[in-house]
Amino acid sequence: MSYHIQSYQQYQKDCLQAKSDPGQFWDVIARDNFVWRKPWHTTFEFDFSIPEVKWFEGGQLNITENCLDRHLADRALQTAIIFEPNNPQSEAEHINYLDLHQRVCRFANVLKDNGVVKGDRVCIYLPMIPELAIAVLACARIGAIHSVVFAGFSSTALATRIVDCNAKLVVTSDGGFRGDKILDLKTIVDKALEDCAMVEAVLLVRRTGNQVVLRPDRDAWIEPQLESASHDCPAEVMESEDPLFILYTSGSTGQPKGMMHTTGGYMVYSAYTFKNYFQYTDGNVYWCTADIGWITGHSYIVYGPLLNGATTVMFEGVPSYPDFGRFWEIVEKHKVTQFYTAPTAIRALAKQPLSFVNSHDLSSLKVLGTVGEPINEEAWQWYHEHIGGGTTPITDTWWQTETGGIMIANLPGIIAAKPTFATKPMPGIQVVLKSEDSQSLDGPAEGSLCIDFPWPSMARTIWGNHSRFKETYFSAFQGCYFTGDGAIRDDQGNYRITGRVDDVIIVSGHNLGTAPIEDAINEHPEIAESAVVGRHHDIKGQSLCGFVIPKHQNLEVSGLLSGVNVLISDQIGPIAKLDQILIVSGLPKTRSGKIMRRILRKIAAGETDHLGDISTLLNPEVVEEIISQLNQSK
Ligand code: WT7
Repeated sequence: MSYHIQSYQQYQKDCLQAKSDPGQFWDVIARDNFVWRKPWHTTFEFDFSIPEVKWFEGGQLNITENCLDRHLADRALQTAIIFEPNNPQSEAEHINYLDLHQRVCRFANVLKDNGVVKGDRVCIYLPMIPELAIAVLACARIGAIHSVVFAGFSSTALATRIVDCNAKLVVTSDGGFRGDKILDLKTIVDKALEDCAMVEAVLLVRRTGNQVVLRPDRDAWIEPQLESASHDCPAEVMESEDPLFILYTSGSTGQPKGMMHTTGGYMVYSAYTFKNYFQYTDGNVYWCTADIGWITGHSYIVYGPLLNGATTVMFEGVPSYPDFGRFWEIVEKHKVTQFYTAPTAIRALAKQPLSFVNSHDLSSLKVLGTVGEPINEEAWQWYHEHIGGGTTPITDTWWQTETGGIMIANLPGIIAAKPTFATKPMPGIQVVLKSEDSQSLDGPAEGSLCIDFPWPSMARTIWGNHSRFKETYFSAFQGCYFTGDGAIRDDQGNYRITGRVDDVIIVSGHNLGTAPIEDAINEHPEIAESAVVGRHHDIKGQSLCGFVIPKHQNLEVSGLLSGVNVLISDQIGPIAKLDQILIVSGLPKTRSGKIMRRILRKIAAGETDHLGDISTLLNPEVVEEIISQLNQSK
């Protein structure tokens, strides 16, 4: 039976069935829409108190046979990937399923020749070029676990991620093009690898042609190896619960969290949600503007589309280059039918003259999507009116790196949109709102967003740190996965995500933890302690504001912000830079010494009338001082 949901009636029926008999519901979807080498014996098993979750246990498969091999019979010559380069003058590349299959197999053979075996971790640090998707699939082909690191991360951030998963091999390039910038990735990798003795080999894709220095015992160009490799590479047979990939996401404390996803469940859910949230049908051209370095790119540029035999666009560049009409030019050029982007991009584009939009024919579009952060009403209306011509449905998709696939969103054309609401959960997703005292709330309510039943693509652990996995997601509310978000439910059962309730800040759709940023700031020789909070920003959604305690009384404000931002760029990457810095003599703390970022957040937002009871603080007097400091700095 096809897993395509085509009516609201069917959606409701599927929700009921997925709830009353989840085993049967997912069994049919997994059996009828994928190729398995061996069927599973247990559809799912879980115990959130450990936590342990297993899907399709006993089943064997290779996800690339589902993404590639099975399409060779009926769509070998159909385009799988359209690569649109940064430079609008360069020709787009159309890679059909047959070519993609061969290129993945060659790449997989090269990985093998370099000693990579099933279970090894391979770090992929590449710009948005076809080799990025190919490298991901090549790992999956041979059962190596890919860990893609977004090519905007700094050498320190890259090193942390390589060390954490003990990667044996790194795939990178001589560089990449992004707008009018050239990324020098090889130099960043070289610096990172000074601290990564475990890396045995670096494979380099040639992209920019820039001169790079190779370390002969470690580095090699991949092209000659690809040329001599066979385009035949039998797929490694994987257990359903074998790891497929690790992807790092920020946490509210210290180290990034290596979210580990496994094979069978991730395949089933990423494919099922792609089909339904984008209502993809044969002949469509789908484009997600994210980077494959984020989960959005994993699930909805690579795996979801290819599992459905779709045509997926990969764009190397940025929305503003060569001008702010680039997205719309690409939509027109490739006759894009589904367009999926982030609210921050929409807000930035909405600030530009409408002529950038109106000079392009956008009539091919039939579904619009947003992801990554709450979308404000104004941005939603602009997207609806100017890109969607007032009629194209917009799906506002809520999900996380941890969830592997979209969890709450309106199925376009099937569930009515409600601006600023992600609306309703997918069949099989059991959402609950919890009050502060852990009660499940009924009817219209506001609370902490939790899921109280497993779904196939949920992360199984944090790589190397299962106790942190339990602590972060399964401890706040007993028997539930806690998302870290707050949400409101209306009287129709629609959910509106209100934002993070923990110390994660979302800037331009990037998930940033306060702790690593504060650690970077504290490296400054003149700074004793710091706290970072998010505040409203018209385009980025949130921007970062830092409160710092100086080591000496006469700290100079001038140059401090740029000095701190250099440290942040080094440690994390430019995406985590502060917009504002404030020197204070103390930070509001609880008696146990925990910084009350909630109070700083309100001060930064100017909501000083609603600070709540501050008398229980260790140092209530600093609050007044910070408020007056902030007022002076305006
Ligand atoms: C956090 C997850 C999901 C892929 C990209 C981000 C926020 C995500 C929405 C949305 C409101 C959203 C949440 C979530 N978020 N989508 N449609 N409406 N908030 O993945 O980096 O793991 O971040 O992004 O706060 O917890 P991520």
